[in-house]
Amino acid sequence: MVDITAVNTKAYYSQIAKLADIIWREHYIPIVGKSQVDYMLDKFQSAIAIEEQVTNGFEYFLITYEEVAVGYISIKKEAASLFLSKIYVLSSYRGKKIGKMVMMFVEEKAKSYQLKSIRLTVNINNINAIKAYEKLGFINTGALIADIGNGFVMDDYQMVKTV
Ligand SMILES: CC(C)(COP(=O)(O)OP(=O)(O)OC[C@H]1O[C@@H](n2cnc3c(N)ncnc32)[C@H](O)[C@@H]1OP(=O)(O)O)[C@@H](O)C(=O)NCCC(=O)NCCS
Repeated sequence: MVDITAVNTKAYYSQIAKLADIIWREHYIPIVGKSQVDYMLDKFQSAIAIEEQVTNGFEYFLITYEEVAVGYISIKKEAASLFLSKIYVLSSYRGKKIGKMVMMFVEEKAKSYQLKSIRLTVNINNINAIKAYEKLGFINTGALIADIGNGFVMDDYQMVKTV
């Protein structure tokens, strides 16, 4: 049983930050290296950074599976699309269709905002996530490189799904 809970308190932001710390270190250090992951966690996924993003229109949701907190998502309403900024599931819970259930929730959110597409960005070397997104109906629309400061760049593809 998957539950998706809107997150809007400091205690929840800390819980998301802890999940991010576990998932990002395990998943991204082999892809972009430890110094970039340290930097990105501090800049984007500390409890304070999450709170600030919520103030700026990002919505965060905690994912629980059989009452265990297993991941989180973040979305933002844009003019033409719903931006799926984050979707992360703990490695031991992947492949159980949790991502698929969550994507149905995201699609419903897009429709409720009268938006016709969902867009996301994914690291070009994040092969498993790219495969999962393709299975979930997303199409690669090309490269997007973003300078995130301190000499680091995000080397991403943008992927889009029409809903
Ligand atoms: C990407 C992620 C959120 C997907 O969630 P998940 O719960 O593992 O995905 P699901 O089990 O719901 O699978 C969804 C679909 O993708 C497919 N899929 C998932 N992982 C796959 C892989 N490595 N290779 C091929 N297909 C894959 C599943 O088979 C399923 O398709 P189907 O229903 O047609 O069989 C999760 O794997 C994750 O957190 N990955 C690591 C962090 C990450 O990279 N996040 C994205 C950052 S942009």
